[in-house]
Amino acid sequence: LSRMLASEWIHGSKCLLRQATPSSSVRMLSSDSFSTPQPNNQETERTRSVTSFYYQTAIDTAATKTSVRLTPTTMLYSGRSSDGSHVLRSAQYLHKELPVRIAHRIAGLRGLPFIVGCNPTMLAIHELYIRAFHVLTEFPPITDFDIEARYCQMLRQLLEDHSDVVTMLAEGFKETKKHIKDPHMVQTFLDRMLTSRLALRMLTEHHLALHENKPNYIGIICVNFSPKTLIEKKVELAAHMCEVKYGHAPEVRINGHLNASFPYIPQPLDYIMHEVLKNAMRATIEAHSDSLNHLPPIVVTIANNDVDFVIRISDRGGGIRHDLLNRVWQYGFTGPQQHTQVEETNRGIFSEIMENRSAGALYGYGFGLPACRAYVEYLGGQMRLETMQGIGTDVYLRFRHIDGKLESFRI
Ligand code: ADP
Ligand code: COI
Repeated sequence: LSRMLASEWIHGSKCLLRQATPSSSVRMLSSDSFSTPQPNNQETERTRSVTSFYYQTAIDTAATKTSVRLTPTTMLYSGRSSDGSHVLRSAQYLHKELPVRIAHRIAGLRGLPFIVGCNPTMLAIHELYIRAFHVLTEFPPITDFDIEARYCQMLRQLLEDHSDVVTMLAEGFKETKKHIKDPHMVQTFLDRMLTSRLALRMLTEHHLALHENKPNYIGIICVNFSPKTLIEKKVELAAHMCEVKYGHAPEVRINGHLNASFPYIPQPLDYIMHEVLKNAMRATIEAHSDSLNHLPPIVVTIANNDVDFVIRISDRGGGIRHDLLNRVWQYGFTGPQQHTQVEETNRGIFSEIMENRSAGALYGYGFGLPACRAYVEYLGGQMRLETMQGIGTDVYLRFRHIDGKLESFRI
């Protein structure tokens, strides 16, 4: 068996990669992928990526470097200058920083058990990162605005090329689940992979956003972020999805510090709130399937103070069984059987409507809660779940202010 696998791996990487997740493979082969390599270089580039599974000096060297993490305040105050020099400095920072962080991710993938790393979907992810490493390191130094514009073009393409990575990870682990002996390994790997990817995307999107003059924003930081406004937007989307699927959606009431507003990065919160609201709505509907016209409301409470802000989402969706409570934090756990069946049919509909694809629109993979907790903790916060079996669940999301009394997180 091992001989067969090894030879498939060496001779057949392209076939393996081609089988894997059609969308990503098609994209990897598309000729308009990057501005730097010429279209007819695509094949050479692929061969080189595959060879890099073995020859890896540059990646190894980059992986030994430590990343330079920024506080959002630094990003905020270095986000403006009259001559645009901040844009060049930001690009120069990314030019140095992104390859190091990508190399760390490649090192993580290389550390996976052989049988997991051989999975076609996992290999496709591995190749995406090797390719990103090459494209990023081969980009010329950013000395003027023309080169910077090309750099942005390349970054946009990379974001797009990597937009399915979370779904691919979920698929890859689902496919290799039966070979995994140590669930702790999966948890550690995915927590690192997902949070590091979140940071990579935030840094990249911040740089791209520095070019836009969006009112009240500096890059991706909203200077007067309102939790209430974001929650309302997410409620609208989740309710719409719920109505499409079930014909009904529970009402959501928002209370507490409705007028709170402060600088924050909305993007991760957008994803987290969506996941949590979706779970609360689904539980409410499933627990009241015989009285869909009288669904108990979900209540969202906002509390703001000078250290952090807290969002509590309370539903009356029947709670989570004692024996399942610890498992909801495991990647790949997706609730009792009845839920799984609902999810199977939901996936198509939900993912079609889902706008935030880059964050990973995942339904039925059991990635929602663990990924949210990893993101919240990365942002210096805390995610807790209290459940009253038979009644409902409260989710507490606590986020550290970026300009608060205590030190902020670093991206
Ligand atoms: P998924 O939604 O893909 O199943 P999640 O990680 O978001 O993955 O949730 C895992 C499981 O936890 C869900 O399938 C569901 O059984 C349970 N769960 C999550 N939130 C709630 C809630 N508010 N009430 C009841 N059960 C919940
Ligand atoms: C990802 O989205 O997976 C990334 O690593 C982003 C990076 C290529 C800019």
